[in-house]
Amino acid sequence: MQIQQITLRRTPEGQPTEADFALGTAELPAAEGGQARVRVIALSLDPYLRSAMAGRHLSAAIHPGDVVRGEGLVEVLESRHPRLQNGTRWVAACGWRSHAVLDAAAIEAARPVVAEVQPATLALGVLGMPGLTAWAGFTQLAHAKAGDTFVVSAASGPVGATVGQLARLAGCRVIGIAGGPEKCAWSTGVAGFDDCIDYQTKDRAEDRAEDLRAALRRHAPGGVDVYFDNVGGDTLLAVCEQLAPGARIVLCGLMAQYNGAAPVPLNPGLIIRARATVRGLVVYDHWAHFDAMVTEIGAHIRAGRLHWREDIAHGLAAAPAAFARLMAGRNQGKALVVL
Ligand SMILES: NC(=O)c1ccc[n+]([C@@H]2O[C@H](COP(=O)([O-])OP(=O)(O)OC[C@H]3O[C@@H](n4cnc5c(N)ncnc54)[C@H](OP(=O)(O)O)[C@@H]3O)[C@@H](O)[C@H]2O)c1
Repeated sequence: MQIQQITLRRTPEGQPTEADFALGTAELPAAEGGQARVRVIALSLDPYLRSAMAGRHLSAAIHPGDVVRGEGLVEVLESRHPRLQNGTRWVAACGWRSHAVLDAAAIEAARPVVAEVQPATLALGVLGMPGLTAWAGFTQLAHAKAGDTFVVSAASGPVGATVGQLARLAGCRVIGIAGGPEKCAWSTGVAGFDDCIDYQTKDRAEDRAEDLRAALRRHAPGGVDVYFDNVGGDTLLAVCEQLAPGARIVLCGLMAQYNGAAPVPLNPGLIIRARATVRGLVVYDHWAHFDAMVTEIGAHIRAGRLHWREDIAHGLAAAPAAFARLMAGRNQGKALVVL
């Protein structure tokens, strides 16, 4: 069977571009014992892939010539493994391909799709790995309580929007930080955040930095009790300058660094002065909570209490451009490719 696949042509330098990837075809072998052949319905595009392409991620590196790794929503065409039945849908490590043969390890790690909450692509976003990241950060690490001022960056993406809404539902005052008026309008108007700071209003970086600090002082005059950081860089520094006593910081992501920018040095005095707690979050540590996350967030979605949005590209060939958009911060919601 001839399939389409996308390989990494070269390691991106800085911001990834379409030219870093190559679309090609390959012959897909039949499934052997313990394997399953699947059709890919939708691919998840995730920022960690950029780190893997640079060889800096906890998971294995993606080298030039490799089929790009990644999870997708798949339908089983031919199973020779007892866990997967033909015709069922799963989230599995299929890579950027139209069809894949999953080996036993990928099958053991695959997750069934929750049928009660639609669309099924939510299993890649708010009911998938990004949802677990938000849920685990909130319930296990943030120690947020009603009345806290809770700040989250990349506020309209699947991780940021979900953790911000969990905080809102727990009675926190939620302030998002997002790039552009459209993302901020969604965060306050749909996700129900109390405020959202658009850090991109000014042209010059110095003016943007000053604006962000002024906005944080205005929106959080009593200080920030919890900061859920998806970006690092100067945004992390700016929020640390405005921490409340006893603040909790959950370090989740490094969007400001993934494309190669140098880390911004953080003054430890800011943490000491606030008696703050800093926790690093790795979603892989929290898989045991996956079902609890799906039950809780699924109930919020069904009741209309928790909102999400998807940024969908169509066709496997569109994956490189969609990934470049994600890594430039131009996505509006969970980045997906529907095949
Ligand atoms: N620790 C873990 O285990 C774990 C697991 C999953 C995800 N994460 C991290 O969580 C973060 C959010 O993931 P997500 O899937 O929800 O992504 P996402 O929010 O859909 O996309 C990333 C967003 O980052 C923002 N951003 C801020 N500074 C940026 C910059 N310099 N360049 C490009 N974008 C920038 C952009 O939003 P604005 O324009 O609004 O700033 C962009 O839309 C990522 O850092 C990701 O790596 C961590």
